[in-house]
Amino acid sequence: MKDLIITDAPEKEPERQLYFIEKCREWVREHYKDRKPTMNIKTFGCQMNAKDSEKIEGILSKIGFVGADDEKADFVLYNTCTVRENANLKVYGRLGHLKKVKEKNPDMLICLCGCMMQENEVIEKIRKSYRFVDIVFGTHNIFKVAELLYNRIVAKSQIIDIWKDTDMIVENLPSVRKYSFKAGVNIMYGCNNFCTYCIVPYVRGRERSRNPKDIICEIESLVKDGVVEVMLLGQNVNSYGKTLDEPMSFAELLEEVEKIEGLKRIRFMTSHPKDLSDDLIRVMKNSKKICNHLHLPLQSGSSDILKKMNRHYTKEQYLDLVKKIKENLPDISLTTDIIVGFPNETDQDIEETIDVIKQVEFDSAFTFVYSRRTGTPAAKIVDTVPESVVKERFDKVLKVVQNSSAINAKKLEGKTMEVLVEEQNDHDESLVTGRLSNNLLVHFKGNKELIGSLVNVKLNECKGFYYIGEMVY
Ligand code: SAH
Ligand code: SF4
Ligand code: F3S
Repeated sequence: MKDLIITDAPEKEPERQLYFIEKCREWVREHYKDRKPTMNIKTFGCQMNAKDSEKIEGILSKIGFVGADDEKADFVLYNTCTVRENANLKVYGRLGHLKKVKEKNPDMLICLCGCMMQENEVIEKIRKSYRFVDIVFGTHNIFKVAELLYNRIVAKSQIIDIWKDTDMIVENLPSVRKYSFKAGVNIMYGCNNFCTYCIVPYVRGRERSRNPKDIICEIESLVKDGVVEVMLLGQNVNSYGKTLDEPMSFAELLEEVEKIEGLKRIRFMTSHPKDLSDDLIRVMKNSKKICNHLHLPLQSGSSDILKKMNRHYTKEQYLDLVKKIKENLPDISLTTDIIVGFPNETDQDIEETIDVIKQVEFDSAFTFVYSRRTGTPAAKIVDTVPESVVKERFDKVLKVVQNSSAINAKKLEGKTMEVLVEEQNDHDESLVTGRLSNNLLVHFKGNKELIGSLVNVKLNECKGFYYIGEMVY
């Protein structure tokens, strides 16, 4: 039976996957008779995973699955993250629960994919202790979900397909969008930076940029379909284009995206400080579409720790960069990521981090406790700092961050600004929620017909991380 599949199926992508989508569709019609089977996709982790889940959902929808809210769905998929240990623990916890659900409904299909699956120990554990999981794949072959599902149907046993790395970028497969008016667009995959604490380069592979023509085409077709805001995605967008046959910088790509008629807002994530160019600052300054927001992960304010993290900048270089950005873009909202508890961090190191937060006055910051990731260089360092000390330092840093965000948010109180209306308020149907260019949210009176449009809103009251406002006509 397996041989038959291989000889029948086209070798080239995406044709091969389109073939398997059709095969799975036929199976769905026969297997579920006159009902539409349901799927439930849970996504952990970052925007990359969210985007991957949209692609997977696009393929599964084509096959005939429809969304369901609960885990009693016919097809349950967890797209996993492994950046910190608690992300992994959450998945194992949920799997324990799913096992019971599947005992009552043996026809249910369970699929695991994403970053956690790129780790050997995880795969070993699934092979041994999680036999009830039907399909397992990693980050490099998500485009193959239809083929793997078909293999599972034919083989009737656990299917595991993990690739170590890839240079393949498969275009033109179906995808869905969570929002009709905004979309994430991959501009590059993988990461070559090897920050010593981080597992991402090991689970997402080497950096590869998408062809600019494919990116522009995708955005043009999104705009035709009603999208007004795009988020360009990559682990380090500032190094975009370096590996292309005809190299192109991120700043140049942005200039091309800016030209797309009908597109109103451009965002991007994430910028590594070491690669942020003067050209990028110039393009942002001249742009009418690039949002007033830059996420610039600091990780630590101590040059000593930054060196141990392999971040390739010092405290002074980071501060100089911020100064240059603020001189050119005075209203920019700066946000960041901070890790507290890197092995053998000292009180002095933490004071340096706090000093940077105070000097930069970040608009907001994601603050993480360092999590040891097996296989990374930092995992080998013997850490002598007790957990309780890390916790105390974390709370201290968090307070400074919160203080800085509150002061910044307050500055906009009373101003009228343009927002993109994103959704109706869950608790009060007379309210809608809009996003400012700086990424903060505002709730105001309005109906759901406004969703997807840009309107002006007066920010009457600052509530810390969001505003209460009123629409201005
Ligand atoms: N590519 C992005 C970050 C992706 S991971 C960048 O370089 O900015 C998102 C964030 O998770 C990182 O910025 C870092 O702050 C945090 N992180 C990564 N590895 C971590 C670890 N081992 N422990 C705690 N936080 C970590
Ligand atoms: Fe991880 Fe560093 Fe790559 Fe970001 S740049 S994904 S923190 S290795
Ligand atoms: Fe997590 Fe993978 Fe993103 S490890 S943070 S989902 S790239």
